[in-house]
Amino acid sequence: MDDQHGVLMDTVNEVLEALARGAGQSAVEPLLERLVGLTRLHFLSEERLLERYGFPGVAAHAEEHRRLLNQIRQWQGLQGAGAEMREVVEGLREWFQTHTEGADQEYGPWLRERGVR
Ligand SMILES: [Fe+2]
Repeated sequence: MDDQHGVLMDTVNEVLEALARGAGQSAVEPLLERLVGLTRLHFLSEERLLERYGFPGVAAHAEEHRRLLNQIRQWQGLQGAGAEMREVVEGLREWFQTHTEGADQEYGPWLRERGVR
């Protein structure tokens, strides 16, 4: 999971760099799509892992994921390269940071106690 978090953050930064250097929508759009795909994949594997080990907080955790995915769906209607998109992706980076330092820290030690690496 930590590796996936790293890949996600790298991709978020890649999108931000593209936006910062004024890349057009045609360049930004595929990056955003990759980011959304990776996010879905990551959430799915995290939820499966938590379900498999019966983590007590899995429902609340999955709910946080679902809320973010709903938000992302709204953002996808935005133009791909404007200042607005930059704010959105910066917001996303903050969300990931808060989420991985908060909600994700709750299951890490719990899983380790059960012998999951
Ligand atoms: Fe999570």
